[in-house]
Amino acid sequence: MRADRVFTNARLATMAPDMPGLGVVERGMVAEAGGRIVYAGQREAIDVAEIIDCEGRWITPGLIDCHTHLLYAGDRAAEFEARLEGASYEDIARAGGGIMSTVRATRAAPKFALLAAARARLEALKSEGVTTVEIKSGYGLDEAAELKLLRVIAGLRVSNDVDIAATFLGPHALPAEFARDRAGFLRMICNLLPLIAAEGLAEAVDGFCEGIAFSPEEISIFLEAARACGLPVKLHADQLSNLHGAALAARFSALSADHLEYTDEDGAAAMASAGTVAVILPGAFYTLRERQAPPVEAFRRHGVKMAVATDLNPGTSPLFSLLLAMNMAATQFRLTVEECLLGVTRHAAAALGRGETVGTLEPGKKCHLAIWDIERPAELVYRIGFNPLWRRVWSA
Ligand code: NIG
Ligand code: FE
Repeated sequence: MRADRVFTNARLATMAPDMPGLGVVERGMVAEAGGRIVYAGQREAIDVAEIIDCEGRWITPGLIDCHTHLLYAGDRAAEFEARLEGASYEDIARAGGGIMSTVRATRAAPKFALLAAARARLEALKSEGVTTVEIKSGYGLDEAAELKLLRVIAGLRVSNDVDIAATFLGPHALPAEFARDRAGFLRMICNLLPLIAAEGLAEAVDGFCEGIAFSPEEISIFLEAARACGLPVKLHADQLSNLHGAALAARFSALSADHLEYTDEDGAAAMASAGTVAVILPGAFYTLRERQAPPVEAFRRHGVKMAVATDLNPGTSPLFSLLLAMNMAATQFRLTVEECLLGVTRHAAAALGRGETVGTLEPGKKCHLAIWDIERPAELVYRIGFNPLWRRVWSA
């Protein structure tokens, strides 16, 4: 075996699908060549220039945050205070606050300021072993501002120390200038799709299917247009009410449907047949003090893969920690440790359509590792606000 370096004397949670549970290897090592994993398994003698002794620590795949809105300007601390006084998220949105207040700040912000703010947020995620981050547009909502955001996301790749998946979130909220012309807004965002696809500015699209956002019929128009451009789809579905968004996402063979608090049995079944991943977002549930948990038991019964993400955004989930997202998913929704860890590795990769390249410790995958100062994997889920990362390994 030829390798550039090995990480040895480690315990592995490979998360490989052909192994039970977390795919544990007790006396393990990972070998890397040219940025790819060439071996992950029992320790073997190997001739290699660089040996990293992990001194019994645990190696997991680099973590994947598969749902964020981390590119925005301004903050929503005042809205947070209003909600403490009793206002609801929907009240605030209907009064022109919420997403639209972030849109106003984001439109006004120069690219360099957006870039700097996003970098700082990425650092917070990376410090916990995150090696792949999905970032949505959606706070521009006009042609120039949406393209600006997608280009800033492309600019974030220049630092070359984290994989970034860009998602075009066109139907996120209806901007004031289109208040009397919903069809015109949909036409505008649909017309952007060919350019976005041709320039590779996004690798998927997303929408917000909700009473305060867009109807299933409107979302379908957008998803049809995305499909015609060859762009895979994701969907914010059934977060605040059941508009059957999960089933709608499944009809478009969506990579994922996200939130899903109000998804019913039929929605779960439809997702299972379409292979659509359920992205669980406990930060938004917590922040909005929701009562209705997503139907985790139905997802298990139907064999729907579950991912866990931060939903990092200034309004409903100002959450900058994927470790804490796992803890919240376990405590609030009773996900098991195994489900949480799969949710930020293999299943998160599937939610991004990147299952071939990241998400497990298997030969051929990118050498993205998180090495942890822990005695058992459950520690990654159970502590609140403690970061046991020893080392993070990322390769292009
Ligand atoms: O995922 N649900 C829609 N979008 C975001 C909220 C964005 C915002 O409030 O700024 C979410 O929760
Ligand atoms: Fe979201």
